[in-house]
Amino acid sequence: MITKEAKNIKNAQFHRVYFNSARAAFLSLLNAVCTDCKDTILMPAYIGQSVKEGSGVFDPVRTLRIPYQFYNLQENLQVDMEDFIKKIQNPHIRAVFLIHYFGFPQENIVSIKKICQQKGILLIEDCAHSLYSCLNGRPIGQFGDFALFSIHKFLPSKAGGFLLLNNKISVETSLPIALEDLTIFANASQRDVMAKRCQNYKYYLDHYNKYSSLYRPMLPALPAGVVPLNFPIFITGLPREKVYFELQKKKIITVALWYKLIDEIPQSVYPHLYNLSNHILNLPVHQDISLQEITQILQALNDLEGQVCH
Ligand SMILES: Cc1ncc(COP(=O)(O)O)c(C=O)c1O
Repeated sequence: MITKEAKNIKNAQFHRVYFNSARAAFLSLLNAVCTDCKDTILMPAYIGQSVKEGSGVFDPVRTLRIPYQFYNLQENLQVDMEDFIKKIQNPHIRAVFLIHYFGFPQENIVSIKKICQQKGILLIEDCAHSLYSCLNGRPIGQFGDFALFSIHKFLPSKAGGFLLLNNKISVETSLPIALEDLTIFANASQRDVMAKRCQNYKYYLDHYNKYSSLYRPMLPALPAGVVPLNFPIFITGLPREKVYFELQKKKIITVALWYKLIDEIPQSVYPHLYNLSNHILNLPVHQDISLQEITQILQALNDLEGQVCH
C-alpha cells in the first residue's frame, strides 16, 4: 500500500535508548555485551575519578567486575596505534572503548573500526565529551557498534544521557531519563550551541598569551567538525592547584579533567599521561560564556605570570 504519511518507526530513525546518565547507559551496555566472565574490555589509559563523582567511565567496569586492559595514548590523547595493535591481539578482548576527549574525535577511528571488525570485536565510542562533533562530516558515535552520550555535560539539564545502538541488541533501561532532561535535549538549538562553543574556543586561541611561561593550550587548533567541551591548557609555570584556586578567588570556576587518574592505570607504564593529569586545567567554552568573560579569564591568567619562578 502507498501510505499518505510515514508510518515506519524503524525507518530513518536513530536507535537511541535514553538513560539518566552516560554511565548508566554504559552499565546496561556492558551487561548486554560482556556475558562471558573472560570477556575483556580494552580501555584508554587516561581515565579519571573524583571523590564526589567516582569514575563515570570506570565505575561500570568495576561494578560488573569486567576484566580490562589499557592501551596507550599520545600526549594529545589520540590513540597510540602501535600499542593499540599490540594490545588488541589478546584473544579475550570482547570490546574496545574509545573516548573522544574534550570533543576532539579520535582521528584513527576508521582504521580502529576496521581492525575491530576483522577480529569480531565490538567498538564502543564514548561521546560524553562530544555531543555534536563530526569527523570528516560524519557525526561521532556513528562509527562504532555502540556509543554513549552525556546530555548534561553540554546542555543545562540536571542529568541525562543516551546509548546509540548502531548494532541491534536489547538493553535494560533501569535508570531512564527524566522528562525535563529529555525536553532540554529536544529543545536545544544544536546550531547555536555548536557556533558558540567553536567561537569561544577560537577566541581563546586568538587571544591567549603566546609568550606565557604559565601555560600553553593543550590542543592548539580547532579542526572542522570539532565542537569542544572546554579549552584544555597545560600549566607549566605554577602548581596547577594554585592556578585553579587563584582563578576561583576571582569567581572563575574551572575543572581539571582529570586531576586524579584511576588507581588501576599504572603510573610507571603511563608517566606521560600522569604528567598530563598533574598539569591540565580545562577552561569553559560553553554557550553561556561571553567573549568578555574569556578576556577576563585570560587576564586572570596573565596576572599570575609574575608569580612564575624562572
Ligand atoms: C569521558 C566520559 N565518559 C563518561 C562519563 C559519564 O558521564 P555521566 O556523568 O553522564 O554519567 C564521563 C563523566 O563522568 C566522562 O568524562
